[in-house]
Amino acid sequence: MPFYSKLGLLPKKRHVQFRRPDGCLYSEELFGTEGFSGPSSTMYHIHPPTQVYGWTPKYSTKVEYVETDIMRMRHTMTGGHRLPPKGDSVTGRVVLYGNADCEMAVCNPAEQMSYHYKNAQGDECIFIHFGSGVCHTMMGTLKFGPKDYLVIPKGVIYIMVWDKRQNGADGKPVDGGPPVENTPYGRFLLIETVNGSHLGPPRRYVSKEHGQFLEHAPYCERDLRLPELPLTWDQKGDFPVRIKARDLIHEYVYHYHPLDIVGWDGCYYPYVFNIDDFAPITGKLHMPPPIHQTFEAHNFVICSFCPRLLDYHPQAIKVPYNHSNLDSDEVLYYVEGNFGSRKGIEVGSLTAHPQGIPHGPHPGTIEASLAATHTAELAVMCDTFRPLHPTKAALALDDTKYPASWQGEHFPGLSSGKMHLNGATVPPVHAAAFPREVHPVDVIRAAVPQVIIPAPGTNGASGAAKPGAGVSTANVWAP
Ligand SMILES: [Fe+2]
Repeated sequence: MPFYSKLGLLPKKRHVQFRRPDGCLYSEELFGTEGFSGPSSTMYHIHPPTQVYGWTPKYSTKVEYVETDIMRMRHTMTGGHRLPPKGDSVTGRVVLYGNADCEMAVCNPAEQMSYHYKNAQGDECIFIHFGSGVCHTMMGTLKFGPKDYLVIPKGVIYIMVWDKRQNGADGKPVDGGPPVENTPYGRFLLIETVNGSHLGPPRRYVSKEHGQFLEHAPYCERDLRLPELPLTWDQKGDFPVRIKARDLIHEYVYHYHPLDIVGWDGCYYPYVFNIDDFAPITGKLHMPPPIHQTFEAHNFVICSFCPRLLDYHPQAIKVPYNHSNLDSDEVLYYVEGNFGSRKGIEVGSLTAHPQGIPHGPHPGTIEASLAATHTAELAVMCDTFRPLHPTKAALALDDTKYPASWQGEHFPGLSSGKMHLNGATVPPVHAAAFPREVHPVDVIRAAVPQVIIPAPGTNGASGAAKPGAGVSTANVWAP
């Protein structure tokens, strides 16, 4: 983060003698980015941080992408029992999408971590969907719960300790989440950088000179939860620390507890931001997706689609217009709310829309949304500026019917003849009634000059949705 903070014990000046109670010197470490030119923190260890040994390669994290040449809409269903508990908060990560800039994974851990972890390859943004606990980091402790973003910068050593989820007297989970037997600790979405860039707030929301959040930002410094005590573990022993770097997990062993810092200060540290503290920007007419932007790194952004009031122009169309995303792929992770207008979309679903393919409201959703005043849906989106690719795991959870989900009559009144684009009523016409060389559009153009009408049935009249049918007025955005 760009703003200064501190925790624990610090000497008055940098780079001066700072002694432990036994008279020995604390070990100062500059923890910095971009050489010595970027954000950094200065930390004071009980032990020299260089005393590590026993580096052992454990396993590869190199992601294998499939169908890299194929461009199509995708719906990856990870909800319900489809993603059984697996591994711990690191080994249980299932990467679903990614490219040379970022990786997106979902994790439903089956067990607690038995080691500390350091991602030396990129920043991590961990969105807690279900569950709670604490994340002990080398820079202090972060409590986390549902809908928290944990932003852990590259290089920070941490361990996640989950609360065990419990059933109540009624046999249902106390926290209202998924069944405990399927999700014993919790579940999170992970978006991490793999291109060496760092996650931060959108640059347009912070001042150029000092990085202070500006007045038009949808969140600010007060919304961020910074590391707290406990900070320091003074223990001897053999402590494994797993380090991700170069697409490989190495294990190092420390002679002492790796969280041995007594104090730090600076502008580089982990923090928590709860998505409910995002104050959505609303407008008279439809506001585009950038208003939902929450974080950014090089070549991708993370957005929060939160419950909010909808457009207030008396003739506003509450669902987004069709759009093509010519320069970005977008993946949405559905957190909560009613996804009735997206057929088959459920909590834990991910949809992937590649750049260049138009997408927009599902059949029937536009008319159905006109009277809506607010939306209660919650989703996290990752937009990338280079094509995203699925993994084998994503294809195993693939809903192959999704690309055709926009089929169906968007304007049933036109094909039935009950309405016409210029307000006049015309008899219904059907393509099958005309020989191939005589298209119904031409017939109607001849009959009604200066009117353009689409050929009825070209969107597939079978199964046409009636306006409002199966559509929640709460669901008025179509990513
Ligand atoms: Fe979109």
